[in-house]
Amino acid sequence: MDNIPVWSKDLVRRHLPHRHPESHKGTYGTALLIAGSSGMPGAAILASAAAMRSGLGKLVVATARESIAPIASHVPEATFEPELMERINDPDLDLDSYKAIAIGPGMLPDQRTEAAVGHLLRVGKPLVLDAGALSERAYGKTEAPVILTPHPGEFSRITGVPPEELQHKHAHHAANWAARLGVTIILKGHNTVIAFPDGEIYLNPTGNSALAKGGTGDTLTGMLLGMLCCHDNWRHAVLNAVHLHGACADEWVTTRSAHTLLAHELTELLPTVMKSYE
Ligand code: APR
Ligand code: MG
Repeated sequence: MDNIPVWSKDLVRRHLPHRHPESHKGTYGTALLIAGSSGMPGAAILASAAAMRSGLGKLVVATARESIAPIASHVPEATFEPELMERINDPDLDLDSYKAIAIGPGMLPDQRTEAAVGHLLRVGKPLVLDAGALSERAYGKTEAPVILTPHPGEFSRITGVPPEELQHKHAHHAANWAARLGVTIILKGHNTVIAFPDGEIYLNPTGNSALAKGGTGDTLTGMLLGMLCCHDNWRHAVLNAVHLHGACADEWVTTRSAHTLLAHELTELLPTVMKSYE
């Protein structure tokens, strides 16, 4: 695919939301993050902190009971819903109050996760699927946007497209599968591409090899969740989150070695990086 438009710095500037003087936390909404497992609490910490930094009003984290203490010690602003995964199929479980939902960081792609995704797709709120929540499945017609965030290996796993096919034709395959599945696909890596289900597609111009390290994807999922809460337009939220996540890595390498970035440092850089766009 040639001539794919770039979601430029100027476009981010023009589409960043303002925080209104009279707003309160309810204005921006409550996000639900389902993440982490007993062996992988770190992914939930990274995604929680990134979400809290990205404009939402409140954050509820549904995670393994033993992960709550470590997450709370890193992200004291978060609240918790420890039994949510056990109750996910309970018809009385009401998820309507959430403004946006993300699931998958630090989770295994098992039957329980798959059942949870099936339920969340019926809630009708913007839904981000990452890591363990990515699977080969159909989405049917969904009321609200569904956003998949695969790296090339995950994209291959969920579509069957061989990894070597993605090297030069990644945008073509992302666009094809976004249309076919009726979802938005953020195909991550060098030259991340964002493909919407109606054929709209953008290249992200930010990011660098400092991001090639475990945890940076979890941080992106958190930023997506937070941005979905503070933007009126969900497409702008997705595009701005991907751009700003990469811009934090670009800021890192202006003064520090690309070898040394830790995923949580993206979240620490976001306040000054985002300010430079306002
Ligand atoms: N240039 C620009 N951006 C890059 C580059 C690069 N060379 N390499 C990686 N990135 C960016 C991607 O675009 C994405 O935003 O870094 C992020 C990496 O995301 P993931 O691949 O999802 O990594 P992450 O989830 O953090 O890795 C943790 O996920 O796949 C599982 O188990 C696996 O241990 C791994 C875990
Ligand atoms: Mg990942």
